[in-house]
This record gives sequence, C-alpha cells and structure tokens, in this order.
Amino acid sequence: MTASYQVRGPVAVITLNNPPVNGLGLATRQAVAAAIAQAEADVAVQALVITGAGAAFSGGADIKEFGSPKALAEPNLLSLVLLVENCAKPVIAAIHSVCMGGGLELALACHYRMAAPGTKVALPEVKLGLLPGAGGTQRLPRALGVEPALNMIVSGEPVLSEVLAQVPGQQLFHRMAQGDLLEDALAFAAEVAAQRPLPRVRDLKARLSDPNVDPQAYFQFARNMVGAQSRNFPAPLRCLEAVAGAVRMKFDEGIRAEREGFAALMMTPESKALRHAFFAERAASKLADVPSDTPQRPVERVAVIGAGTMGGGISMNFLNAGIPVIILESQQEALDRGLATIRKSYEAQVKKGKLKEDKFQQRMALLSSTLTYADIAQADLVIEAVFEEMSVKKAVFQQLDAVMKPGAILASNTSTLDINAIAQFTQRPQDVLGLHFFSPAHVMKLLEVVRGAATAPDVLATVMALAKKIRKTAVVSGVCDGFIGNRMIEQYFRQAGFLLDEGCSPSQVDRALENFGFAMGPFRMSDLAGNDISWAIRKRRSQAQPGLRYSASADRLCELGRFGQKTQAGWYDYAEGKREAQPSDVVAEMLAQHRAALGISPRSISDEEIVQRLVFALVNEGARLLEEGIAQRASDVDMVYLTGYGFPLWRGGPMCYADTVGLFNVLQAMKRFAKNPHDDAQFWAPAPLLARLVAEGGHFCA
Ligand SMILES: NC(=O)c1ccc[n+]([C@@H]2O[C@H](COP(=O)([O-])OP(=O)(O)OC[C@H]3O[C@@H](n4cnc5c(N)ncnc54)[C@H](O)[C@@H]3O)[C@@H](O)[C@H]2O)c1
Repeated sequence: MTASYQVRGPVAVITLNNPPVNGLGLATRQAVAAAIAQAEADVAVQALVITGAGAAFSGGADIKEFGSPKALAEPNLLSLVLLVENCAKPVIAAIHSVCMGGGLELALACHYRMAAPGTKVALPEVKLGLLPGAGGTQRLPRALGVEPALNMIVSGEPVLSEVLAQVPGQQLFHRMAQGDLLEDALAFAAEVAAQRPLPRVRDLKARLSDPNVDPQAYFQFARNMVGAQSRNFPAPLRCLEAVAGAVRMKFDEGIRAEREGFAALMMTPESKALRHAFFAERAASKLADVPSDTPQRPVERVAVIGAGTMGGGISMNFLNAGIPVIILESQQEALDRGLATIRKSYEAQVKKGKLKEDKFQQRMALLSSTLTYADIAQADLVIEAVFEEMSVKKAVFQQLDAVMKPGAILASNTSTLDINAIAQFTQRPQDVLGLHFFSPAHVMKLLEVVRGAATAPDVLATVMALAKKIRKTAVVSGVCDGFIGNRMIEQYFRQAGFLLDEGCSPSQVDRALENFGFAMGPFRMSDLAGNDISWAIRKRRSQAQPGLRYSASADRLCELGRFGQKTQAGWYDYAEGKREAQPSDVVAEMLAQHRAALGISPRSISDEEIVQRLVFALVNEGARLLEEGIAQRASDVDMVYLTGYGFPLWRGGPMCYADTVGLFNVLQAMKRFAKNPHDDAQFWAPAPLLARLVAEGGHFCA
C-alpha cells in the first residue's frame, strides 16, 4: 500500500508510504482519497492526520509520471487537494523532513499544519521550468505572506520550517512539534476536533507585509528584478504573475490563471529542456550492463599522482567530501607548489566567507604528500594526473602495478590518450579506467568516466557512486580519441576555423555563440585553455589522419607566439593581469593575409549560419558517438555539454536542441553547408544514425 490508514482514538492517521520520498503518484493519490472517504464515513473519527513514512512528508509529484497520462488520471493532484480541503472533519498535516512541491500543496489544503523543526519546505517547480500547478501559487502567499511566498516560488529553493514559523503573521504552520511529531499532532487534532468553521487557506487574504505598500508597485519592482535574473527562462516571471494573481483575483479565478500558466509553461522548449536535463542527469548514472546491485569496492583513501593544475583540483574534491588524499610528485619543488596552490584556493574561500575556518583546517588535515610510491600502496583509488605523454603514463602505471594493494582502482585523468593501452602497462587491466575531470577540477561538475575494454563492472559501480559523493555529474564514455566531450568539440573548433577562413572575425563568432547562450565562444575558450595545447593535438592528429582538413589560421596564430591569456595574446589581446578579451589588429592582419594566401575574398556571414555550423558540427559528431557505442544515450551527450562545456541549459544540450529544431531541418542545413566550396563536404557527411532518424521521422531523445 502506498498510504496506510490507522485509527488512533478519535483520529484517523493517513500515512503516505511510497519510498523514497512519498511521491504523489496515481496509486498514492488513490490510496489517500480512499482513506479520506473511510475517515469521513466513520462516525467514531473526529479528525484526520496526514503524515509521511520514512524520510519525508512528501517530495511532491511522482517524477516518473511526468508528462504521462497517469499524472492527469483522477484523482489528479488538484482534485486530491480539493478533496482534503472540502473534508467535513478537520485535517491536520503532520510535516517532517521534506515537504516539497505537490507535498506542500497537499499540506496547504489541510485545515491545520504542524511541522517538525528541520523540515525542508519548497515549491521547486520553477527549476523544471514550471509553476506549482495544484494551488501552490494561490495558497502559499495567503498562508505565508506575499513576499516570502514569492521568493520561494520564484527561486524554488527550500527554506527550513523553523525559519518559516518566524515570519510575522504567518498561518503556514499553526504549531511546531515540540516532541514526537505524530503524538503532538494527535493531541493537536483532539484539541481542534470540534472547531467549526474549518479554517481554509483559500479564505485568507494574500497580503504584503507592509499594508502601506501598493501591491502594483511592489510587483512591478519584482518583475524588473526577476526579469533581469531569468533572461532565458520564462517560468520565473510566470510564477510571479501567478502570485500577483493571488493578490488581485478571487481564489477560484487565481486557480484558473495558475492552471493556464502551468499548461503554457509545460509546452515551452525551456521547460522541456530543463525536464530533459533533470532526467538526463539521473539516467547518466546508470549503465545498461552494470546492475544497480553490483557490489562496490570501499574507497576510504585516495592517492593522486601529480600536483599540477589538475592534480590539485582533483584532490580538493575528495578533501571536500571528507576523504583523505595523499599526493605523490616526482619533485619536491612541484609538490610544494601544488600544496601551496591548494592551501591558497581554500584560503580564498575562507576570505570570501564561503568556507569556515574549522572546515578549512579539517580539509587540510586530511591532506598528506610524498615522493615515494610505497607510501601510497594502501590507497583504495589512485588518480594519475601527470604530463600528457604516453611514456610518462607508462612509467607511472608500471610503478602503480608494482606497489598498489590488490583491488585498488587505478585511474588516469588523461584527456586524449588510449585508456586500453594504459591498462596494458599493468597486470590488472580490470582495475584500470579513465576519470576525466575538467578544469578547474574542484569547480566543474562534469566527470567523464572512461570505460576500458577490460574495466570490471564493480570498478564502474564504485566510481559512479563515488562521483555522487564528490558531487560530480558522471557520464560514461567508451575509449576513443577525445572521449565524448573533446571529440565533439574538435569538430566545433574545426568549423570555427573554416568560418575565419571565409571572413568572420573571432569576436563575431564568439558573439554569435554567446548570444545563442554558450558561456564562452570558441576563440575566448581557446585563449583560456591555451592555443599551444590544441596546436600540439592538431599536429598529432594530422599525422594520424593526413587528409584531415583544418583552417591553418590557428597554426599561424601559434607561430606568432600567441598562446592565449597566459601570453597576454591569442585570438585577442589581453592587458596585463586582465582577462577581458580585446579584438586584436595583429590577428585581423594575420587573418587577412591568411585569406589572401588561400585566394578567398571574405564574405559577410550571418550569426544564424555561424551558430548552425558550430552546433550542428557537435550534433553530427554526437550522432557518430552514439552509433559507435562510445556514448550510451543521447541524453548522456547532452549532460556532457551542459555540465562541462557551457552549453545553454535552456536549450537542453546539443542533441535535445537538434530534436527541437527538427532533425530534418538539421540535415537540410548540413546539405547546404556541404555545397560551400570553402567548407569541407566530407565534414558534413551525415552520421548514419542522423540520416536514419530523419528517414524514420525519429528523434535522438525520447
Ligand atoms: N589542464 C587541463 O585543463 C586538463 C583537463 C583535463 C585533463 N587534463 C589532463 O590531466 C593531466 C595533467 O594535466 P595538468 O594540466 O594538471 O598538467 P600540469 O603540468 O599542471 O601538472 C602535471 C604534474 O605532474 C607532475 N609529474 C610529471 N611526471 C610525474 C611523475 N612521473 N610522477 C609524479 N608526478 C609527475 C609534474 O611535476 C606536474 O606537477 C594530463 O594528462 C592532462 O591531459 C588536463
């Protein structure tokens, strides 16, 4: 049963019981409705208490039902809420732990609410591009007051029950539990059993805290603030309008407007993208051939090899999660530098008030270092982050194989090298895999887990669980040059180069992509990462694939010593100590000469063409990765781009975006690009999967 019914003296107790968070799926709603009917029919019952079993009162709507007919099947959430509100006997919500979304809307329909301290209370629908659709926008402002309700609804952030209980004049919580929540609620129920009329939130007035403030002026101010902060997301403003309706309209009218707002948001590409990302994140942690009950290896101690840019950031992830780290370096000087960088990074956080002094001390106490392999032998996981050279990796992995205890997981942070080859440097390839962090490694959410041909299932299960612990979004990739993210970005950069050949300036390309929503355009990104690094990779690739076409402009740039921010000169100029990119006359001149050498007279290129060429380059390569089985699912590709490459969240990732544009339209555009003599016809050969989906009228994502 997803809700239980029990009579305690004169009180019927209905307990939601749908683990893990008592989601209000159809079966639960039916069970609650039946329990209410039973309590109403029982003359011995004078009051009802609704509470939740386990770790929540209720986390809200059942996400598995999202978008399916089940979500609308009766009793739907709105009907259940009415059923509770119209119950002839007092209904008391006994709230604890988590009370969110539909759970809070259900509680708001109860006549009385008692909360345990420490309960996280929220209406998080806005995070999925929606608004609370079961009366939340109308009842919360009435029960709590307009300003705090607006904040909660527009931000979606949880607030603790004891904080809400302090809001002057609030009627959200009639009582806070002092001892055992259920016992207190039963006593409260007995107290109010005979009271009539039953108080209903709908009968309250939604008020501003200061009666002298004109609501219209207040909402206009809030509109400006919210509008400015949520530029590409329609939901926050719709939430705001719904709350404004709670002040301006009669209750039933406000509910109708809320419904309309909900239905309209449900259809927006932004909400679809946010819901896609929400499910994509959950899907990414699952592997088709590694069942969820696969045993895991304990990871209590971590060793990191190399205290450079990546080694330091990687170590911080584990220290932050309370896991001891030992860093091994080949030279004392490099070790000292690396440790000092970690310390400085934490000190900066303390200075900004983001980290408490005692937490900082605790983290530093978990960190140790060595120059000797024997000292790391007992680590459960070792992550190598030394120079990107196969010979160096080989030496490290041979050493690791010699000293590490049996069962230790051996990971490499390599960006481009073959994990299967690295695994073969050891006698235990089943314990080897790639853990590809992104820079800065203690900040970026993405972790590509690179699965070698021999990687054991329990190694994969262990690192996927560990990724959650260190708050990374892990996406599994097969072995190939660049894995998912960098193999795709390679094509994006190639197109960016062809655009320069044809007449674009770096800033025009960057602006177009940034207007599309990327955090940073390709040329600013290259300047940040270092143009010399891609130069080296290009040389290696061109040797491996002699026919591969690149714009030579990036090579000309590097020949001028313009490696990016670190040399204060790259695609842009940088003033000393500054990160602002200034268009460069030197680069403009270099590009003019480069085009002249190619015999190209520059043409004017629209922002639309720029965006399509770069984004569809990602899409086509993403389709190849899917076809080759390097990526498990299209939503994994999207997760990589949303969490590691600054792809705009409201567009859902490249594959979701391609679905939104229509795969037929994507393919037509690619055919047009292939005819451009200065582009590369081979580049635009459609991935077979893309061609097949277009023929079938299919999509990448379900
Ligand atoms: N920098 C990035 O943005 C980035 C992103 C993802 C992955 N990576 C990968 O991470 C790895 C490290 O990159 P990085 O940017 O931190 O380089 P880095 O040059 O900053 O650091 C490498 C460190 O390894 C140490 N080292 C070299 N050989 C060693 C050995 N045999 N034993 C112990 N220590 C040794 C060096 O002293 C240096 O401190 C590379 O494989 C790189 O491809 C880098």
